[in-house]
Amino acid sequence: MASGDMNNSDWQQRKAKAFARGMGNLFPVFAARARNAELWDVEGKRYIDFGAGIAVVNTGHSHPAVVAALHEQLDAFSHTCIMVTPYPAAVELAEKLCAVAPIQDARAIFVSTGAEAVENAIKIARAATGRPGVIAFSGGFHGRTNLCMGLTGKVVPYKKGFGPFTPDIYHAPFPAEYLGVTGADSLAALEQLFQSEIEPGRVAAILIEPVQGEGGFYPVPDGFLESLRSLCNQHGILLVADEIQTGYARTGRMFAIEYAGVEPDILTVAKGIAGGFPIAAVVGRQAVMDGPEPGGLGGTYAGSPLGCAAGLAVLDVIERERLCDRAIQVGERLLTGLRELQARYPDRVGDVRGLGAMVAMELVIDGDPARPDAALAKALCSRAIESGLILLSCGVRGNVIRILTPLTIEMEHLEEGLTILADSFGHCAGP
Ligand SMILES: Cc1ncc(COP(=O)(O)O)c(C=O)c1O
Repeated sequence: MASGDMNNSDWQQRKAKAFARGMGNLFPVFAARARNAELWDVEGKRYIDFGAGIAVVNTGHSHPAVVAALHEQLDAFSHTCIMVTPYPAAVELAEKLCAVAPIQDARAIFVSTGAEAVENAIKIARAATGRPGVIAFSGGFHGRTNLCMGLTGKVVPYKKGFGPFTPDIYHAPFPAEYLGVTGADSLAALEQLFQSEIEPGRVAAILIEPVQGEGGFYPVPDGFLESLRSLCNQHGILLVADEIQTGYARTGRMFAIEYAGVEPDILTVAKGIAGGFPIAAVVGRQAVMDGPEPGGLGGTYAGSPLGCAAGLAVLDVIERERLCDRAIQVGERLLTGLRELQARYPDRVGDVRGLGAMVAMELVIDGDPARPDAALAKALCSRAIESGLILLSCGVRGNVIRILTPLTIEMEHLEEGLTILADSFGHCAGP
């Protein structure tokens, strides 16, 4: 059959014969084109995109400024390798990244994916401190490489069957207040780790997402990052903020950690920083970043010219279109929409929360936080896609609906998406 005659189901069957099943897809929908917050599949059906390719196209699908920058770069050259003959766009992007990061006298490196950024953050922390240990949090997600799987605090599907993981990684409970874990509980657990598992003098870094992403969209409670900063200072431990999902304007600030006024030693960014082009970065204090020797950091495609050109265009768009403000505006509208659903279905929507345009609702049975309703989350996402809305779930318990629209979404598309969401909810949850 000619490719042009194939529908979604044909492609799904063809994919099943060419892909290993481990690389699954949420929806049997094959994209043909996309623009800002709209996407069309190979059958010509249109969708509103409330997922942005999992927090990547924050500036919308194919933002004209990003596309123009890419064309220009592609006409000039596509690859020379940053470690052989670097290029101005990489230097400019590193300068800008260091300037926007909430870190004094920052330095950056580029890599290609979020997992690589986290790997390198830990390499740098270990080289800078000469210590092996790393503490991460339960429910956290940091990527799919071996070190990152070890750091990730969710077994299925990320760790199951994939061990052994690297030694000297420990987990403390993430302070998800809705699940009954307070900041104080989490700090007490860290102290316990220092007594029972590893002395603080052997810990290189504590790694945390300021708003836990895959784990369920739990923002850290007020004051927690400040306490973590003090704990790190007390023991000479580096604080590493994984801002790969929260980064770049999504939460209403360039970085979510800015809300706490806390300076991390290192932060990682990826996803939204280049509007869909695979580039990621580690930014940190110069004294820390210069821990590894020359040649110790890098990668063939690290900081590719196309990624850098797109990254510069994305930063311009964020500034010109005031996307931090837009994230707040979009987030407030989403929160109102989800709270209306909660008012209508108080037994099913246990919690609505968000920071900027990183918004979620947690689905439960009989209003009980201890009884997650993953089946409802799954049914809701399926119904939504059938009705023309790309909607994602997350959460260690699989019962959280997360919304990550492009920050540039047209207000009428936001309304359209919320209407589909409400109708789908009504269909799945009953009257
Ligand atoms: C917080 C966080 N860290 C790391 C990663 C891994 O990024 P990548 O999939 O680009 O390797 C993700 C991806 O979802 C993430 O959300």
